[in-house]
Amino acid sequence: MKHLFIKTFGCQMNELDSEKIAGVLSDLGYSLTDSPDSADMIILNTCSVREKAESKCYSDLGRLNELKKERPDLLIGVGGCVAQQEGTKIVKRAPYVDMVFGTDNISDIPGLLEKRREKAKNRVSTERRRKRVLLQDNSIVKSTVLRNHSVKALVNIVDGCDKFCTFCVVPFTRGRERSRKPEDICNEIRGLAASGYKEVTLLGQNVDSYGKDMGGGTGLAGLLEMISEIPGIERIRFMTSHPADFNDNLITAIAKLPKVCNHVHLPLQSGSDAMLDKMKRNYTYAEYKEKITKLREAVPDVTITTDIIAGFPGESDADFNKTLKALEEMQYDAAYTFKYSKRPYTPARTYEEQVTIDVKKDRLNKVIELQNSITLAKNKECEGKEFEILIEGESKRGSVSLTGRTRGNKIVHIQKQEGIFIGDIIQVRITFATFSSLMGEVVGF
Ligand code: SAH
Ligand code: SF4
Ligand code: F3S
Repeated sequence: MKHLFIKTFGCQMNELDSEKIAGVLSDLGYSLTDSPDSADMIILNTCSVREKAESKCYSDLGRLNELKKERPDLLIGVGGCVAQQEGTKIVKRAPYVDMVFGTDNISDIPGLLEKRREKAKNRVSTERRRKRVLLQDNSIVKSTVLRNHSVKALVNIVDGCDKFCTFCVVPFTRGRERSRKPEDICNEIRGLAASGYKEVTLLGQNVDSYGKDMGGGTGLAGLLEMISEIPGIERIRFMTSHPADFNDNLITAIAKLPKVCNHVHLPLQSGSDAMLDKMKRNYTYAEYKEKITKLREAVPDVTITTDIIAGFPGESDADFNKTLKALEEMQYDAAYTFKYSKRPYTPARTYEEQVTIDVKKDRLNKVIELQNSITLAKNKECEGKEFEILIEGESKRGSVSLTGRTRGNKIVHIQKQEGIFIGDIIQVRITFATFSSLMGEVVGF
């Protein structure tokens, strides 16, 4: 048995891709290991969304070069969004890399390894697949996805993105939107249910566009209805939603379908209309706010999370203050916050009036400070209340506790006790809340 170590950067899409990579390689006799030192093959599944993520890929490769000098048989592969973006440039810069595969090319891994054995020069595969040849639906390569969890699974429903927000590299690394057929998605989820999975998270860069490239038909709301019919699946999540496409149908689906969880991740990016316009987000803050108001009316206990960019080119103090005001108004349960980072191919990198690094840092700190206090207050509101949680595994803090999530996606730790197992859905009362998680006591199972 050969050992494989995969390091995953970036979003849940990459996490799922790593599970697919592990699946393809397990068919070739590789089993996963947690230790790079004992691995026969190391794969970096890279992210390019911000400059820091991309440079991490190259610094890691530098370290792997040292490892390979000690162990020349070690195979090194680079996949993911940097691989797609850079292609052959990676092997030019790091000639010790054995294979490079893009975001549509996981099924090419066996062929690339074969070429490597034959010492063929070409070890890069980043050809964009315009047709829908997603791994799970591809009749030629039908590997199992080697999943990290046993009770919750990631399922992609749409690949790529057509939005071209002016800051974002994703449409260039993931290509145009391609939706999977509803029957293929439902078949996959039926299979997951049969293997004991209780929760699925439907993934896409913009899940609200699901089905548009197939001429309408089943949109995300329709898909949620179909998946709700699958016995054994108790919880359905989806991400990421886009505020311009997030619509009443979807709000109704979340409100009326009991299996659909009460959590929406709806990235705002900025509270300033001038910035939203320059970002090409296709909504104003007022329109965004109206959607959130409707969502909260229809689903009163909904958890809402967001993404914020601080220091987009041209952002004035007044623009930035509108973002702070939006955070106050929206009262998000959590926010992922970033300094604007220049990315290749994107229009915003050439905009004049780039914000200085010091101002970006200062603004990011302000956003984090404000949101942390809101997140803590929101979590404190949970104290004394009862929630249903799905037990996902042992807590990282030690083997005395178990970890689960509420339907609203908040992490809850409970004491281990007899009769409660991973995969159980139980009722807990929250005894204590911190900024990052909740502590609970079991009230029923
Ligand atoms: N499809 C999702 C997620 C895209 S990437 C969406 O549309 O929201 C995740 C987040 O990274 C984005 O929401 C954005 O906040 C951030 N991001 C993307 N490009 C960035 C850049 N160039 N600089 C800083 N943050 C960026
Ligand atoms: Fe990037 Fe915008 Fe597409 Fe999200 S919607 S992936 S931010 S281009
Ligand atoms: Fe990163 Fe690619 Fe995801 S750029 S955020 S891994 S789509």
